[in-house]
Parts: sequence; C-alpha cells; structure tokens
Amino acid sequence: MSTTFQLDTATSRANPTPAPMKRLTVPAIRQRKKDGMTAEPVVMLTAYTARQAQLLDAHCDLLLVGDSLGQVIYGLPSSVPVTLDMMIAHGAAVVRGSYHAAVVVDMPFGTYEQSPEQAFASASRVLKETGCAAIKLEGGEAMAPTVAFLTQRGIPVMGHVGLTPQAVNVLGGYNARGRNEAEAAKIVGDAKALADAGAFAIVIEGVVEPIAIAITQAVPCPTIGIGASAQCDGQVLVTEDMLGMFERVPRFVKVYENIADVISGAAARYAAEVRDRSFPGIEQTYQPRAPKA
Ligand code: KIV
Repeated sequence: MSTTFQLDTATSRANPTPAPMKRLTVPAIRQRKKDGMTAEPVVMLTAYTARQAQLLDAHCDLLLVGDSLGQVIYGLPSSVPVTLDMMIAHGAAVVRGSYHAAVVVDMPFGTYEQSPEQAFASASRVLKETGCAAIKLEGGEAMAPTVAFLTQRGIPVMGHVGLTPQAVNVLGGYNARGRNEAEAAKIVGDAKALADAGAFAIVIEGVVEPIAIAITQAVPCPTIGIGASAQCDGQVLVTEDMLGMFERVPRFVKVYENIADVISGAAARYAAEVRDRSFPGIEQTYQPRAPKA
C-alpha cells in the first residue's frame, strides 16, 4: 500500500489518499505469534516527526517513537536527559502522521522506575496526550510488577531487554550483552518475567545471538530484534541509522540509503546558486500580472 497525504486547507489535517486500511492494533501484533511461530515477521522502525511517520507508515506494522530521539533529534549525549514532554510532543506528531501502523512511545528514564503508580501516571499521560497504542519501557525482572500493573489497567506494554541504553551509566557503554553465562541467563530470565507479566512484545537489543534465539523460543509474545538475531519474530532499526544519516554506524545496522550525502549535496548546490545569484530563477519569482485588456 502506498499512501500520499494532501493537506485539507479548511481543517489543516493531512488526509491520506487513498483512504488507508484500518490501523493495526496491539492484539493483532501479539497474535502474529501463534504456537511459538510467527509466519509474518513484525516490521518496526523509529519515527519522531509527522512527515517521517507519513513516509514510513505504509511499510511498517509498528512505529516506535524511541527515546533515541534524544541523540538523533536533539543531539544529546544519551537518552538519559529525555523528558516525558519531549516524548509526548513527538508521539503526538507521529500519531497524526500515521494511519496504518500501531504507534508505540518510549517511556523516558526517570518517569516509570520508581513505582507502578509513577509508571501509570506517566504512561496514562502518554496514551491520553498522543493517542498512541502502547508504551515501551526498559528493564527486566525488576520491571515485571510494573508491566503487570499497567497492562491490568489498560496500558499495553512493550518490554526491552539486553542492552538497555537508559542504563548506560550502570552498564558503562553500549557493548553487546550476555557474553558470560550468568549474564545470558539473567537476560533470558528478564524476558520471561516480562512476558509472564503481560508484555505484548519484547525488544531484544544488543545481545549475542544465542540469547535472542533462546528468548524467542521461550516467550509466547513476539520478540523484536535490534542487534539480536534474524530468528526474532520481528526487527527494528533507528530510521536515521538505516538511512545513513550518521558517520558512525553500529555493526548491527544495514544502511539502505545514504541520505546524509543527498542532503549535504543539495545544500552545497543551493549555497553555490545563492552565491552566484542563479537562485531564485524566473520560475521561483512572482512577476507582475499583465494588465487586463
Ligand atoms: O529508543 C529507541 O529507538 C529504541 C530502539 C533502538 C529499540 O529503543
């Protein structure tokens, strides 16, 4: 399905053309995995803006408003400083720009870890103010009571185990996790605890491949890998990474296009044309209308 968007000038709403299919739901994503098998892998990409969501929507089952926007959009050193208000503003934009994919919004660091009640207060704001379908939070066994608390109160939760970037200050960096037996067992246990608590899907990030395979076989809900394994039930990438927006590319990213070169090439041509006064040309300027006869 390819959807284009036309602006209705009366309402300022972007209307899709043609009318798209019904938006995917959390239960539909959860049911992709039946008896341990996922016939159709779950496709997820990050999106942070309305226009980006419009372009990705038709191709994805899930759009993730990741707190990676801290680094990608705001130039922050990590996702730790990202606030709930930032996530809500971008989450609402992505919901406005999409009609097909279910939108999941990340809970930022410090807005859910203290207690299930704190998590409910933050997550209910995210759902109310963005219109998203679900939230995602990082952490394993320690977060399982919170996942149960939220799901039992109407908030679908996507889990996130393995390399959990919000814990960078504890982990000491972004290296792959699970290289020793104890850590591997802990990560598998984390994923099982989240699934038992009611997570509808679990992101597995930055782990040695056998861990991702073990989790995918062990949990009934879909697993979504990033730096994990092709055997996960789905995959996610940060869109700007796979579009080649940054010089540094993590090993697990496949660069599908080099948009950084396209943007800087276009800016260079524009700058040259401004400097030699060939822009704007006659096509880009308004001329007086010829007097009526
Ligand atoms: O914040 C994010 O973009 C994420 C993905 C990398 C899974 O959590």
